[in-house]
Amino acid sequence: MAFKMMFSVALLLSLWSTAGCDFFVEGVLRLECHDRYFMIAVDLAATGEVPRFEAVDGTGTYAITEHYAAKCGYSISILSLLGLVELRASYFSCHTEKGADFSFRFNLITSYKGIDAYYALNKTCSPPLPWSPREVTCEVNYMEVSVRNELPCQSGLSDGWSTLGPLDSPSTEDWQVTFQNPDERLPPMNLSQARQQGYIFDLVHDRIVFRTPYGQPDSYRTEVTGVPVEVVHATVFSRKSWVFVMVDLIAACSKDEGSYDSGYMIWGTPEALYPSLGKTQISFGLNGNLMEQAAAVQKGFIMKRYNSTVQIGIPYNAEGGYRKSFVSDGLFEFYIFDLYLKQTSVDERHEETVLWFHRNLVTPLLSSPLITEDQTDVEDGTFSINLGKVPRDVELTSVQLNGQEFAVPFSDSIAYTLTEVRHSNQSHSYTLKVPLHDPIVIQEFSKENAAMLHKLDINYTLIVTPGDEPYYHTISVTALKAVSPPSFDVVCTESGIDFKLAYRSFDYLWDFTIGSDRLTPALAANRGYTMSNDSQSLLLSVPLFTHGYKYTDIGLKGFLGTFTILVRESETADILTSTIKTCLFNTTEFIMCSTNGWMTVVVDLSAVPSDERPAHFHLVNSLCVPKEVDGARVLFSFPLHSCGSTVELAKENVTYQNKIYFDTSENAVEGMTVQCMYPLASLHRLFSSHKFESDEEGVGNIIPFVETTKAVPATVTPTKITTTVAPQITRSPSLHRPPFYPTARYIKVYRVHNQPGQFSKGPKGNFQVKKLLHYA
Ligand SMILES: *[C@@H]1O[C@H](CO)[C@@H](O)[C@H](O)[C@H]1NC(C)=O
Ligand SMILES: *[C@@H]1O[C@H](CO)[C@@H](O)[C@H](O)[C@H]1NC(C)=O
Ligand SMILES: *[C@@H]1O[C@H](CO)[C@@H](O)[C@H](O)[C@H]1NC(C)=O
Ligand SMILES: *[C@@H]1O[C@H](CO)[C@@H](O)[C@H](O)[C@H]1NC(C)=O
Ligand SMILES: *[C@@H]1O[C@H](CO)[C@@H](O)[C@H](O)[C@H]1NC(C)=O
Ligand SMILES: *[C@@H]1O[C@H](CO)[C@@H](O)[C@H](O)[C@H]1NC(C)=O
Ligand SMILES: *[C@@H]1O[C@H](CO)[C@@H](O)[C@H](O)[C@H]1NC(C)=O
Ligand SMILES: *[C@@H]1O[C@H](CO)[C@@H](O)[C@H](O)[C@H]1NC(C)=O
Repeated sequence: MAFKMMFSVALLLSLWSTAGCDFFVEGVLRLECHDRYFMIAVDLAATGEVPRFEAVDGTGTYAITEHYAAKCGYSISILSLLGLVELRASYFSCHTEKGADFSFRFNLITSYKGIDAYYALNKTCSPPLPWSPREVTCEVNYMEVSVRNELPCQSGLSDGWSTLGPLDSPSTEDWQVTFQNPDERLPPMNLSQARQQGYIFDLVHDRIVFRTPYGQPDSYRTEVTGVPVEVVHATVFSRKSWVFVMVDLIAACSKDEGSYDSGYMIWGTPEALYPSLGKTQISFGLNGNLMEQAAAVQKGFIMKRYNSTVQIGIPYNAEGGYRKSFVSDGLFEFYIFDLYLKQTSVDERHEETVLWFHRNLVTPLLSSPLITEDQTDVEDGTFSINLGKVPRDVELTSVQLNGQEFAVPFSDSIAYTLTEVRHSNQSHSYTLKVPLHDPIVIQEFSKENAAMLHKLDINYTLIVTPGDEPYYHTISVTALKAVSPPSFDVVCTESGIDFKLAYRSFDYLWDFTIGSDRLTPALAANRGYTMSNDSQSLLLSVPLFTHGYKYTDIGLKGFLGTFTILVRESETADILTSTIKTCLFNTTEFIMCSTNGWMTVVVDLSAVPSDERPAHFHLVNSLCVPKEVDGARVLFSFPLHSCGSTVELAKENVTYQNKIYFDTSENAVEGMTVQCMYPLASLHRLFSSHKFESDEEGVGNIIPFVETTKAVPATVTPTKITTTVAPQITRSPSLHRPPFYPTARYIKVYRVHNQPGQFSKGPKGNFQVKKLLHYA
C-alpha cells in the first residue's frame, strides 16, 4: 500500500526539465484511432508540466478531471517513465460526435510560467472493427458495456432511446434503472438521478451504452474462480401503457491487481466472466497492441488456463514494459506494464461478448543488486574495480576513495580513471582505476606475506534519475604486492662514501642503522656525516675516518674502507637487508686508532725534497720500525701499549702517544708525534683485563716536532706524561696479527687533573695533519 502510494506520487511529481517549446513537431504529439478507443499521446518533455485536457463538443468545453474522466469515458495515464501523457477516449465517451464516424475534439492545455496555452486537437475515427452484440471495456478507471439494441423498431419505444441523449431530456423520464446485487434489488431511479450518481446510459447508433466508474455504491465485489471481480448489474426498464421493456446491463471486470512470481507478472481473469460455451478466445499485448497467443508465447509471455481462470504471465523484462529504479534502504527496481487484453466468449445463443481490458500492472519492489568485481592485476600496479549491472536510470555521481570525494566525471588532473560502458541490455557499468601507489591508497606492510597490503575503500554515490535520492554502494578492495627493502645507490668519493636512496612511497616502513644506532639527523651531526632527507630521497655522505668504517688492507698503496648501512623493519628492528660498500682510498697521510687498540699511521714526506728525506724511521722504542716505506711515505702500525707509547689519562679521555723519529742528523731529531685519544666511556676493558676494547675508534693526531737531541725530552711532548710503557721488543706490527697486549705490571696509572691541551684536533674530532716540518 505504501509502495502504491509512493509510486503514484513518484509518477505525478516527476518533473521535466525542458519547457515551453512548441510541441506540434514530429513525434511530440500523436493522435491515434484504435479498435475501441481514440488516443492522444503527448511527449512530456515538450510540455514541461503534465498538460490538462478539455473535451469539446457543440455544447461547450468540459475539463477532464479524474472524476469526470471515469464518468464520461476518458482515461489519462501519466507515463512519466516514458515521458508521456496518454489520453484514451472511448468511442462512446460523453463528448464524442457520434455520426457515421466518431469525431473527437479536445483542448490540450499546457502551463508555462503560469500562463496557459491552449491547443485545439481534433480527429475523426471510424471504428475499424464491427461491434459484437455485447462489448465490455474494463478501463483503468471505469467499466463500460454496450449491447446491441434489440428493441423492436416498430415498438415505438426506440424513439425514447433515440432521443436519450441528452439524457436528462423530459422524453426519457419514463425510463428507470434499478441496480441489483446478489442480496437485493435496489429501488429504481430515473436516468438523470442515475447520472447524478455517476452512471451514464446512452444510445449510440443501435447500441445501448452503460458506463460506471469503479467502486460505485451499487457495484459489488465478488470472487469468480478465485479472481476478484467487480460487478455492476443495472436493469433499465420502461413501462409505457401496456408494454414493459427491460434491458439487463451487466458490467463485470476482473480486478486482479496482478502478482509477481519468478520473473513474471501474473494477471488473471475468470474464463466465464460472461456466459461462455467452452473456452474464451484470448489475445493480448502491451500498450494497446494485441497478439495472438502463439505470437505472445514466442515473445516470452505465458498464457495458462486452469481452474476456469485465464492467467497471463508477462516476463519482467518484456519489451514494452517500463522499468524504474528506486532507492529505499537499498537499490530496487519495479516494472510497470500496460496490459491490453481482449477476451471473446460466445454464449449458448451464439451471441458474442467481447471484453477489452486495460490494466496497469506494477511489480513489487525487486531488489536490483549492483555487482562489483575486483579485476585488479597487481602486475599492472593498478586497482581495477568494475561496478556492473547499473540500471539505465541510475547514474554514478561521485566516488569516495578512502573517504575522499571525487565528482564524476573525474577531472583530468587526478590520477584515477573512470570508464563507462553502456551495454545493449540497457544496463551500464563503470570501471574505476586507481594506481596502487597513489597516496590515496592505504598501504600497510604485511609481515606474514612479506608484502605491501594496499587498501582502498570505495563508496559510490549513485542517483536514480530523475530524482536526487542517493544510493551508496561500497566495496573494500585490497591487493598484496611483494616489496623488497630499499637499497642505496653508493659511490666512492676521494674522501668518503656517498649513499643515496630514492624513496619509494612505502620506504617509511624501514629504519636505517649504522651498527645498532638508528640513523637520525642528530646521529649524523654527532658523527660528522652529512645527511639530507626530504620526501624524494635520503642522501648520506660519510667522510673517511668517521665512526662506522672498517679498514682493511692498509698499506702505502691505499686501504679499503667499508661502511655498512643496515635496513631494519621499524617495529621489530629485524635486519632485512644491508648496503655494504667497500672503497679503496689512497689518502696520502692518515692515522687510524682502531677499536682493538692499534695505531696505524702513514706520514707523507713528499713535501721534503727527495735528497733531504730521511732514510730511517722508528718509534720511541727504536726497535719499532715502519711496516712499509716507499721513499716519500712511511707506514707504522703498532699496538697502542707498545713501542714506548705514553698513556695519559684525563677526566674523559685516555690518550696514547708515540713519536715517529726521522734519523736525519746527529744533533737534531725531527719527527712526528702521533696520538690516539679514546673517550674513557667507550672503553670496556683496558685496565681490568689485558685486552683493549673500545666502542669507538680513537681520534688520531699527527704533530710534527723537532728535538735537539734524542736524549732531551721532546719540546712539544706533554710534560704531564705520567705513564710510561716500557720499551719492548716488538715485532714489526701487522694489522693481520692479533694485537699485542702488554702485561699489566708495565702500566702505571696516575691521575692528572688538567686537560691535555696540546693535541691539535680536527674540527669534527677526526685527525688532522699539520705540516709544520721545516727541513731547511
Ligand atoms: C481540426 O483540426 C484541423 C487541424 O488539424 C483544423 O484545420 C480543423 O479546422 C479542425 N476542425 C475542427 C472542427 O476544429
Ligand atoms: C427524476 O427523479 C427526481 C426525483 O424523483 C425528480 O426530481 C426528477 O424530476 C426526475 N427527472 C426526470 C427527468 O424524470
Ligand atoms: C480453483 O477455484 C476454486 C473456486 O472455484 C477455488 O476455491 C480454488 O482455490 C481455486 N484453485 C486455485 C489453485 O486457484
Ligand atoms: C547486461 O549485459 C552486461 C554485459 O553483457 C552484463 O554484464 C550484465 O550482467 C547485463 N545486465 C543485466 C541486468 O542483465
Ligand atoms: C558512503 O558515503 C555516504 C555519504 O558521505 C555516507 O553517508 C555513508 O555512510 C558512506 N558509506 C560507508 C559504508 O562509508
Ligand atoms: C626522513 O624524513 C622522514 C619524513 O620526515 C622521516 O620519517 C624519516 O625518519 C627521516 N629519515 C631519517 C633517516 O631521518
Ligand atoms: C689515488 O689518488 C689520486 C689522487 O688523489 C687519484 O688520481 C688516483 O686515481 C688514486 N688511485 C687509486 C688507485 O685510487
Ligand atoms: C675528551 O673527549 C671528548 C669527547 O671526544 C672531547 O669533547 C674532549 O674535548 C676531550 N678532552 C680533551 C681534554 O681532549
